[in-house]
Amino acid sequence: MKIFNNTLISLFLLVSFSCTNSSNKTLVNQGPVSKSEMEKGAQIYRAKCMTCHRKNGEGLKSVYPPLANSDFLEKKMEDAVRMVKYGSSEAIKVNGIRYQSYMPASGLKDKDLSLVFNYILNSWGNSYGRIEPETIRSIKEKK
Ligand code: HEC
Repeated sequence: MKIFNNTLISLFLLVSFSCTNSSNKTLVNQGPVSKSEMEKGAQIYRAKCMTCHRKNGEGLKSVYPPLANSDFLEKKMEDAVRMVKYGSSEAIKVNGIRYQSYMPASGLKDKDLSLVFNYILNSWGNSYGRIEPETIRSIKEKK
């Protein structure tokens, strides 16, 4: 019984640790992104993101951060989703360069957010996995 309890406790610790660990592992999966999903994502990108992050996700140095090869997008996905969902004017660092400008809340639904994220996660050489609408829904605004 004692062994059983210990196992349960370790399992509990493991599960709660992985839930509080905001690394991308818990947010993205390695499922494929279909061609039609990529096309829909690209359409949303062109309409809602491209003016600032530019055609190839290269951004504008020191004003609009890049999405192509962005260590922020790769390592801080929860913050990235929160920023696109709710807007941001916090100071952030992307590939060693500091940005503090304004991104408005996208106004997109969770489903469209997942499409545009799956597009930017898998374009311009990025290969950062895919994120589901339910995961996007679970990411709440910072209090
Ligand atoms: C008005 C310009 C503007 C638009 C439009 C915009 N962004 Fe941003 N984005 C920014 C700025 C500025 C930041 C940095 C915000 C900060 O300093 O807090 C940012 C940060 C980000 C980041 C995190 C940093 C990085 O480079 O990885 C992601 C991801 C992102 N934007 C994705 C998007 C997506 C997806 C859209 C479209 C739905 C979008 N943005 C639309 C200006 C914009």
